[in-house]
Amino acid sequence: MAKITASVYTSHVPAIGAAIDLKKTGEAYWQPLFAGYEPSKKWMAENTPDVIFLVYNDHATAFSLDIIPTFAIGCAAEFAPADEGWGPRPVPKVIGHPELAAHIAQSVIQDDFDLTIVNRMDVDHGLTVPLSLMCGEPQAWPCPVIPFAVNVVQYPVPSGRRCFMLGQAIRKAVESFDRDLEVQIWGTGGMSHQLQGPRAGLINREWDKAFLDRLIADPAGLAQVPHIEYVREAGSEGIELVMWLIARGAMSDVAGGPAPTVRHRFYHVPASNTAVGHLILENNQ
Ligand code: DHB
Ligand code: FE
Repeated sequence: MAKITASVYTSHVPAIGAAIDLKKTGEAYWQPLFAGYEPSKKWMAENTPDVIFLVYNDHATAFSLDIIPTFAIGCAAEFAPADEGWGPRPVPKVIGHPELAAHIAQSVIQDDFDLTIVNRMDVDHGLTVPLSLMCGEPQAWPCPVIPFAVNVVQYPVPSGRRCFMLGQAIRKAVESFDRDLEVQIWGTGGMSHQLQGPRAGLINREWDKAFLDRLIADPAGLAQVPHIEYVREAGSEGIELVMWLIARGAMSDVAGGPAPTVRHRFYHVPASNTAVGHLILENNQ
């Protein structure tokens, strides 16, 4: 059967993608950030899964205000990097896993979560920047990826509680797939940042660090935090962090298993307008 081996959490700041693509990672501004991901790239190379289930948000790139799915699962065979206004990032296309994606859609929808099934979609920085941070600049991404887009851009957004429950349903779905696949689940976006209005530039280090602590040790409690607290404490774009609860909900301990091992933890300010947070949690099955 398939199983979830680990979860990865990381910010997805578009300027990080530009720094990589324009060969600026060695510059003084960026160096401390990329240094924090060196252990992650090594870990990723040593622990390449068969599939990544990548929870991210689309930034009005593939979707627009015309159609706003709360949860959308990418079931296509491949996904092209999106043109976000400066041309598509020069990164490999994303190869999907239609069989596992269709199975997860079947299982999770029958478990009462209303997913939108997407058979054609381009993927923006929300998905490609985490891949670049974890995998570097390969000719092809190291494994298939199932994109899972969450609406955190246009209100109403899903609650952390629902995201956490959805993660549990995704875990159940993966574990009922009749092939021996190792699957990682990634939660992306965050941490504190606000790109608009009078509070633009907001960063809240204490809140971010407490979020990381609770994500590790008290995810069920963290899942009760209402969306208004994210917006107040972590800024209007800090709400992206609810996506991390989907990945966390899919870990074994939430289903009664042993606590995960914290393989890597990193926090850095600033990257563009954003506080960058990163965690790697390994399942102890
Ligand atoms: C920035 C961060 C984001 O999450 C995003 O989607 C766009 C921009 C930023 O920090 O500039
Ligand atoms: Fe974003």
